[in-house]
Amino acid sequence: MPSDAAAAAAATALAVPSEWLDAFEEFFLELSEAAGSVPSQSQLASWQSTLRSARAVATVRAHLAVHAADIAAALGPLATFCQRRAVEQRFIFMGVYGSEMSLPDALTQLLEEVRKQSENFDQLQLKEPRFLLRLGTFDDRRHGSLRSSAYPYSPACSSGPGDAVVECLQASTLELAGYLALNGAYADDCSVHPGFQGRGIAKALVCSSAALLAKQRHTHMLLDVRACNLPAFGLYKSLSFKVVKKHYPGFYDWHGGYKMQAVLSEVPKIPLGFDTSHLGLDNYAASGPIATG
Ligand SMILES: CC(C)(COP(=O)(O)OP(=O)(O)OC[C@H]1O[C@@H](n2cnc3c(N)ncnc32)[C@H](O)[C@@H]1OP(=O)(O)O)[C@@H](O)C(=O)NCCC(=O)NCCS
Repeated sequence: MPSDAAAAAAATALAVPSEWLDAFEEFFLELSEAAGSVPSQSQLASWQSTLRSARAVATVRAHLAVHAADIAAALGPLATFCQRRAVEQRFIFMGVYGSEMSLPDALTQLLEEVRKQSENFDQLQLKEPRFLLRLGTFDDRRHGSLRSSAYPYSPACSSGPGDAVVECLQASTLELAGYLALNGAYADDCSVHPGFQGRGIAKALVCSSAALLAKQRHTHMLLDVRACNLPAFGLYKSLSFKVVKKHYPGFYDWHGGYKMQAVLSEVPKIPLGFDTSHLGLDNYAASGPIATG
């Protein structure tokens, strides 16, 4: 596999400015992994336009480092390490893939999301159960508009009007907080409204989908995730999904993505605090392993 030295030599040959070296090296190594060899001259020559279509993680991290104090101030002095890391990972996701938005605008949007999340948290704290899960069908007005607010780009999701979804609603208002589309055992388009993120909703959606699939005698659940979607990758890993392969299909950018799979009996149960009574999961107890056929 080509080394950092090969990346440095290519950067010199292309007269890459010093402030772009880290991003160029990331680009070079990713192209090498995709091709299984040194990238071609024509691929490398287009480095500027390619890094405009999806930023390098290095570029986004550099912006994050400069503005770490703004994020810390928005989160407040009581924020835990995990909360800070979750916000940083969301920013990397927005910064890499939201290339139509400038990084300062992405940061402004993220800080607004953090403000809304803490407002929602205050309102939800006294209400139990806070969320309910149910089966539904995708419609553009509700699910499509939630999807637009959750992603910084138009995702290559295959779910559309009429498809089966598991949805999560705020119990007191029945506002749609998140959903996940299921096509057989393939999970797609897991989306949580930014104002409700960090409350275990995606976890509840994935775990309830696993329980529903187990009831239908499936044994595995499959999905795809973009390589720099750190919040989603962290979510799936924490729920026992394993990487089947890294790949670079045309519908992803140069960072590629992961195909992941979980054995249903290893996926945790739906977390407490979610009303599961509308899911049709008879005798479902919120602890112990998921029973598979
Ligand atoms: C990814 C997404 C669905 C997570 O939704 P969520 O409701 O905030 O996630 P949860 O609160 O259920 O988090 C469950 C676990 O996911 C991981 N996770 C969630 N958000 C994370 C973040 N910002 N950074 C790192 N890990 C994160 C953690 O492991 C977390 O467990 P923990 O809280 O015990 O640490 C949400 O960020 C989203 O809608 N993103 C945009 C759409 C998208 O990318 N969908 C996935 C397509 S494959």
